[in-house]
Amino acid sequence: MLEVLPRHAEPMHKQKHYSQVYANIQALLTADTDWLAAMATIISELHNSFESFDWTGFYRVVSDEHLQIGPYQGAHGCLNIPFQKGVCGAAATTKKTHCLADVDSFPGHIACSSSTRSEIVVPVLNKHGEVLAVLDVDSDYPSAFDAVDQHWLESICMLYAMRYPERPLVTSR
Ligand code: SME
Repeated sequence: MLEVLPRHAEPMHKQKHYSQVYANIQALLTADTDWLAAMATIISELHNSFESFDWTGFYRVVSDEHLQIGPYQGAHGCLNIPFQKGVCGAAATTKKTHCLADVDSFPGHIACSSSTRSEIVVPVLNKHGEVLAVLDVDSDYPSAFDAVDQHWLESICMLYAMRYPERPLVTSR
């Protein structure tokens, strides 16, 4: 595990830090790693490498209309999110990253924690353009995410989807 990147790190330092996090994730995902171990490892590496990441997790696509939480790190989040709700639903339906400097600026933002000030949600798309999950990172600081975060988090989601292109298995209820 790397040291934690401080909140006000220089852009160059942040780039270098992300490239090390990416390399760590690549090295950790070995040939016998399954999708659940891969998702849990990505979340652990990200959550513990950045001071500004207060909640970090995947919401998996479990039907044509719903996302379900996990794996994640941080306080407990909303367990299920319909596609038509929240930033996560918007990222899943538009298949585009949503980067919010201020969560209150997004009508319909779902506040799992009242301390969250900014958020980035990245869709995990396979090569056919199917959404497998979304990666959601919340910060208690405003404007915590920028184009550098977007670039690297999208790269990490692509890395995951290249290795695990199927929808994660849905457990029975
Ligand atoms: N804020 C998200 C909900 C998930 S929590 O942030 C963990 C949304 O609006 O979809």
